[in-house]
Amino acid sequence: MGKTLIKGGTVVTATEIMEADVLIDDGKVVALLGREHSVDADEQIDATGKYVMPGGIDVHTHMELPFGGTFAADTFETGTRAAAWGGTTAIVDFAVQTKGESAMDGFEAWMGKAEGNCAIDYGFHMITGDINEQTLKEMQMLVDEGVTSFKMFMAYPGVFYSDDGDILRAMQKGAEIGATICMHAENGIAIDVLVEQALQRGETDPIYHGIVRKSVLEGEATHRAIKLAELTGVPLYIVHLSAREALDAVIQARDEGKNVFAETCPQYLFLSLDNLGNGFDGAKYVCSPPLRDESEGHQQRLWQGLQTNDLQVVSTDHCPFCMGDHPQFGTQKQLGRDDFSKIPNGMPGVENRFGLIYNGGVAEGRISLNRFVEIIATTPARMFGMYPRKGTIAIGSDADIVVFDPNGRTTISVDTHHMAVDYSAYEGWELQGKVETVLSKGKTIVANDEYLGSPGDGAYLRRGENQYKI
Ligand code: URP
Ligand code: ZN
Ligand code: ZN
Repeated sequence: MGKTLIKGGTVVTATEIMEADVLIDDGKVVALLGREHSVDADEQIDATGKYVMPGGIDVHTHMELPFGGTFAADTFETGTRAAAWGGTTAIVDFAVQTKGESAMDGFEAWMGKAEGNCAIDYGFHMITGDINEQTLKEMQMLVDEGVTSFKMFMAYPGVFYSDDGDILRAMQKGAEIGATICMHAENGIAIDVLVEQALQRGETDPIYHGIVRKSVLEGEATHRAIKLAELTGVPLYIVHLSAREALDAVIQARDEGKNVFAETCPQYLFLSLDNLGNGFDGAKYVCSPPLRDESEGHQQRLWQGLQTNDLQVVSTDHCPFCMGDHPQFGTQKQLGRDDFSKIPNGMPGVENRFGLIYNGGVAEGRISLNRFVEIIATTPARMFGMYPRKGTIAIGSDADIVVFDPNGRTTISVDTHHMAVDYSAYEGWELQGKVETVLSKGKTIVANDEYLGSPGDGAYLRRGENQYKI
C-alpha cells in the first residue's frame, strides 16, 4: 500500500480542532502537516470543507448472537460492512459461553465466525454464562488472548443470568487479572414475576415489554452491581444504561471516585416507550433494557450524563432481528406475536450511531465536536484497551479515519441501509451531516457512495486493560 494524503480538511480529535493534512503510510498515520508543505502521495483525498475524524468504535455489537430461539440477523460480514458504511471502523462484539460450555470454546467459536469475514477490525468481550472453577481459570487465558472484559447478566434468568454469588466470584477474578466487568443491570428475577402477571392479565402486546421492565429495577440492579464491584475493586462498566435511576447510581459511585463507567445507546437517547405501542409494530423496538417512558425524563438525563461525563460512551447494542422471515434463520420478531416475552430482544443500529449522535449531539447543540469524537471513538478505545492505536488521529495510530461532510445530509431508510434486517428503527429520519469517505488502516473502504473493501480487511484486535482504571 502506498502513501495517502488527506488534504484540506479540518482534523478533529477529542482534544484538537486543526487545519491539517494527514499523511498515511503502511496503514498508519505518519504525519499531521500544516497546509504549506510539498509532501506528495500516491493517493490524495480532498477533504476541503470536511471534518477528518477518527473512525467510530462501537464496543457493543452482537453479530449472529443466538437469542430467543433464533440468531441476530447480521453476520460478521454484513454487520461490519454496514458499520463501515456508517463511519465505524472497529467493533467489540460479544463471544458467548453458554451453560455447560467452556469459555475458551466459546471464544474460539466466535473467532471462527469472524475470521476472514470482517470489513473492519474487531475484538471480543466474553459473555460468561457459567461461572465455575474452570471458567475462572479461563478468564486469565482469555485476558492473555486480548479479551479483557467479561459481560455478565443480572437479567434473563435461565438464559445468560448469573446470581450475585457468581457475579462476586467473577468480579474477584477480574480484579486479580486486570479485567473489566461489563454488566447488564436489570433485576431479571423480579422482572420475570411482572412478565408472568402481565401475561396472566392477557397483556401480550410489545408495549408490555416496556411496561413490566421497570426503570427502578434497572436502578436497583445497577446499584447492586456497583456495591459488588466496590467490594472487589474491579472496574465496572454498565452496558446499555437507559434509566435515570441507573444513572443516579453511577453518578454517586463516580463522585466517590470508584472505577465505575457506563454507556448508553442511541435508542435510549432518541426513542421512547411510545415506539413500543402501535400493536405488533412495536416489536421492532423490543430490546432490553426497554425504551423508557419519556414523561419520566430519562432521555434528557442521559444527554446530561453525556455532557458531564457521567456517561462516557455511546455504543449501539446492535442486535437486529427481522420483522418478516430471515432468509437463513427463519421466524424472528414474529416468535412473540402472541406473547411479548418471546420477542427476540434487540434492535439494529450499528450503521446509524455516528450519524445519529452527530445530528442529535453536535448539530442540535447538545455536545461539542471534540466531545462527540471522545464519546464515539476515543473513550471506547481507552475504556477497552485499544488506545492510541485506535480512537484518535495521531502519529503512529492506525489510519482508521472518517471524512465527514457537516453540510451533507443523510436519510435513514431500510431501502438504503446495509444492515441485513428488514426495517429501520429510524425510518425516514433526516440527519445533518454525511459520512463521506471511510479508511480502515489506510485503505479506503467507502467512498463516493460505494463500498470498496472486502471481507477479511478487518483483523482481530488483541486488547489491553481498561485505561481509565484508577
Ligand atoms: O435487547 C438486547 N439488548 N439484546 C441484546 C442482548 C443484550 O442484552 O445486550
Ligand atoms: Zn445486555
Ligand atoms: Zn447487548
